[in-house]
Amino acid sequence: MCGIVGYVGPRDSQAILLAGLARLEYRGYDSAGVAVIDGDGDLGMRKRAGKLSVLRDDLVAHPLRDGTTGIGHTRWATHGGPTDVNAHPHLADDDKLAVIHNGIIENFADIKAELVAEGYTFRSETDTEVAAVLLGREYRTHDADLVAAFRAVADRLEGAFTLLAMHEEHPGLVVGARRNSPLVIGLGEGENFLGSDVAAFVEHTRSALAIGQDQIVAITPSGVSVTDFEGNAVEVEPFEVLWDAAAADKGGWPSFMAKEVSEEPEAVANTLRGRIHDGVIRIPELDGLDELFLGIDRVIVIACGTAAYAGMVGKYALEQWTRLPVDVELAHEFRYRDPVIGASTLVVSISQSGETMDTLMAVKYAREQGAKTVSICNTQGATIPRESDAIVYTHAGPEVAVASTKAFVAQITALYLLALHVGRVRGTVSAATAEELARELESVPAKISRILETEQSRIEQFAHWMADTRSVLFLGRHVGYPIALEGALKLKELAYIHAEGFAAGELKHGPIALIEPGQPVFVIVPSPRESALLHAKVVSNIQEIRARGARVIVVAEEGDAAVLPFADEVLRIPLAGPMFEPLLAVVPLHIFAMGLSTAKGLDVDQPRNLAKSVTVE
Ligand code: F6R
Repeated sequence: MCGIVGYVGPRDSQAILLAGLARLEYRGYDSAGVAVIDGDGDLGMRKRAGKLSVLRDDLVAHPLRDGTTGIGHTRWATHGGPTDVNAHPHLADDDKLAVIHNGIIENFADIKAELVAEGYTFRSETDTEVAAVLLGREYRTHDADLVAAFRAVADRLEGAFTLLAMHEEHPGLVVGARRNSPLVIGLGEGENFLGSDVAAFVEHTRSALAIGQDQIVAITPSGVSVTDFEGNAVEVEPFEVLWDAAAADKGGWPSFMAKEVSEEPEAVANTLRGRIHDGVIRIPELDGLDELFLGIDRVIVIACGTAAYAGMVGKYALEQWTRLPVDVELAHEFRYRDPVIGASTLVVSISQSGETMDTLMAVKYAREQGAKTVSICNTQGATIPRESDAIVYTHAGPEVAVASTKAFVAQITALYLLALHVGRVRGTVSAATAEELARELESVPAKISRILETEQSRIEQFAHWMADTRSVLFLGRHVGYPIALEGALKLKELAYIHAEGFAAGELKHGPIALIEPGQPVFVIVPSPRESALLHAKVVSNIQEIRARGARVIVVAEEGDAAVLPFADEVLRIPLAGPMFEPLLAVVPLHIFAMGLSTAKGLDVDQPRNLAKSVTVE
């Protein structure tokens, strides 16, 4: 959580910081602030509770003086509520030093007690202010050397942090440190940037450096230096940002989510791009890893939220195509239960942001236990891929709306590619089958486009009619079950409606008690062509709930007439093989949740209480 941006260069930093924060607002949006060192070397600061627009309006009404060195922050509150005082930056050293922070400092109470005993005072309830005051003290004991002070502070702090600071005695210098929270450098001409992710500066430069764990960076207009916490210079990895600023803008859509749902076909197509040649799958990132895949006897998929549902879909494919046993675990449960893993376990992590703390910690834990790790990630230069043995990037492009949509379909696509790759390496999938499945994967983007073209406005209209609904249930079987969970999660997040997803077979074991006249239930119906048995079972589940008065909305393939007598509403998806249905069936559910949120007049991009990148445990 929290978005961070820093700038040094010849231009007025305020405009650059505000633009960067706008692109990072998805990371947290309960308060925001900027600090700038002006032309006379004085530090000015403004921070306000509320969305970034509140800060922006305040700065228009009462401008800060222009300055070419600045830092900015958009917050998702952890310690201390979302108030003006708790917003960042926090000032120290007689208000000459400004500090912003992303993460949680676990030992802040001990340090605060020590500083209070020494006579320091605090204005806020935040852990960040403790780091700021500590930095101010160390700055003085280290002869006004900001980098040395950072080293001393980093040594004391426990937990996760990215800290940026600047001091009015050093205009033209921003210093940052990171441990378990993200920070990347943007390299400009006579100017340099820091950001929680590249979105903060992609408008100005696509040339970036990824900073490793436990490193300190100092940027000036003419240079960048990176050292470890002991002060040794370290090599940093340059990379080119593959998307441009326009990709992170709304581009005329009413919301980022509307844009991102419209990009679901492209997210799948781009994730496949360059990885299937004439029906043959080759994932260049996995070249040379055959030994690794031959040496495993088990797969554990770890992720959170929507990414975990993608993992649940992937389990079916991984088991079918690799014949390896696969477990899917919520990352935050995984490492606290002494899981049985070792050198022959492959741990596949899935994360859009690549920064989810629960997932990161689970990956680290898995590596410590000797497991092999592959990460499926959408964000270049993020931490989780850097902690993994191999990476398969999803190329969904920047996902800005807080709730995940296009990344979900890209994650399933990447898992299928991985499953087919491992299946080929292990000889559990024949070349002919792999080719057939690869071709089917390639046909998915056009099928998603068809759903968007033919069903979107009807589903939005339907969502409008249901704006007063208070509870919605979702049922699915086999690969349809995780899609039911995803449909329910999206509705909770976007429309604040009670929603539950169930395995349809579980209905009679309890949830059917929830059915009363008028209860809306979405049912994801498997293809009758592909599995007559599964289809028949789901149709009888529909009859059971219909008999008790449920209002049934089915998601069924084109031409499936068996559902018609029992459905109040039918949302159609094109024909596909059973493994590929989830990539299609989820699209109407994303449209529905977005439509209902819009019909209720809610903020579909930034739902209450959430942040895009959950970088605290
Ligand atoms: C739901 C959603 C979240 C994320 C989860 C993991 O719409 O977006 O459930 O899927 O927080 O995030 P990443 O994929 O960034 O690790």
